[in-house]
Amino acid sequence: LQHLLSTEGLPLPVITQILDTAESFLEVSDRDVKKVPLLRGKSVFNLFFENSTRTRTTFEIAAKRLSADVINLDVSRSSTAKGETLLDTIDNLCSMHADMFVVRHATSGAPFLIAEHLKRIGRDDIHVVNAGDGRHAHPTQGLLDMYTIRHYKKDFSNLTVAIVGDILHSRVARSDLHALRTLGCGEIRAIAPKTLLPGYLENLGVKVFHDMNEGLKDCDVVIMLRLQNERMNGALLPSAGEYFKRYGLTPEKLALAKPDAIVMHPGPMNRGVEIDSSVADGPQAVILNQVTFGIAVRMAVMGILAGN
Ligand code: CP
Repeated sequence: LQHLLSTEGLPLPVITQILDTAESFLEVSDRDVKKVPLLRGKSVFNLFFENSTRTRTTFEIAAKRLSADVINLDVSRSSTAKGETLLDTIDNLCSMHADMFVVRHATSGAPFLIAEHLKRIGRDDIHVVNAGDGRHAHPTQGLLDMYTIRHYKKDFSNLTVAIVGDILHSRVARSDLHALRTLGCGEIRAIAPKTLLPGYLENLGVKVFHDMNEGLKDCDVVIMLRLQNERMNGALLPSAGEYFKRYGLTPEKLALAKPDAIVMHPGPMNRGVEIDSSVADGPQAVILNQVTFGIAVRMAVMGILAGN
C-alpha cells in the first residue's frame, strides 16, 4: 500500500490486514502501553486545511505511539494565507524530509492531487493518508467504523446496517458504504429525505428508505450522520426541529431496531438535530468507543504504509 486515499477499490485482504493489525495495537493504544518503534526516525506531517477534533488528534496520538516525529502544520498561521499554493507547500515540506502527509482538505480530491504530484516529482517514498477531502472520502473513518462493527458484531454477512441522514454531503457515508460492500455486509440501508441522497447509491445495491420507522426495522447497526451545512452552499434547509421529527434518532425510533443494535456516529454530533441526547449517551451508543478504536486503526494504517 503506497497511499490510503479511499476505501473504494481497497481489496478485502488489505482491509482485513488493517483491522487485524489495529486489533493487535489496541492494547498499545491503551494508556498502559506507551509506544512501539515502528515509525522511529520517520516524520509525519499533519496537514489539516479544514477543522477537526477527532481525526487530527487521534492521528497525532497514533503517530506518537508509533514513535514518529509529528509536525502539525498550523494552517491558519501558515503561508497558505499569503497565497502559497497547496503543491508549493508540499514541495517545501518534502524539503524538510517528510515521510508521510496526513491531509484534510475542504476540496474533494486534494489528497489525490498531492499523491499524483509526489509521483511526478519522483517522491514515491512519501505516503499520503486522506483524512477527509470535501464530500468525497474519509477512509480512516470508514475503516474505524468497520473495526467498531466487527468488534461488536463479529460477522458482516448476517448484518443489516442503516446509514441515516445527510448522505449526499457525507464523505464518511461513501467510505462506509464501499467498505461495507467489500466486507460482504448482508444488507445496507440508506435512510434520508430525497434531497439528501446521492446518485451513486444506485450502483452499490443499497436499499433506500425515506421513512425512518420503516428503515430502522430489525437493524443491527445504526450509523447517524449530521447535516453538513458547510457543504450545502446555501441550499434551503429544513429547520432543526422539523428534521429531528422525521430523521432524529430517539429512543422510540431506536426501539424498532434489534434490541442489541449499536448506534454509531462519526462526530461531531448535533444533539437534538440528528440524535437525541438520551440515545447519544445511552447504553446502545458506541460513539466514544469509535474514537478510541480510531487510534489503533490509524496506527495500523501508518504502520502498514511505512512497510511494517
Ligand atoms: N469524524 C471526524 O472526522 O471528526 P473530526 O472532524 O472532528 O475530525
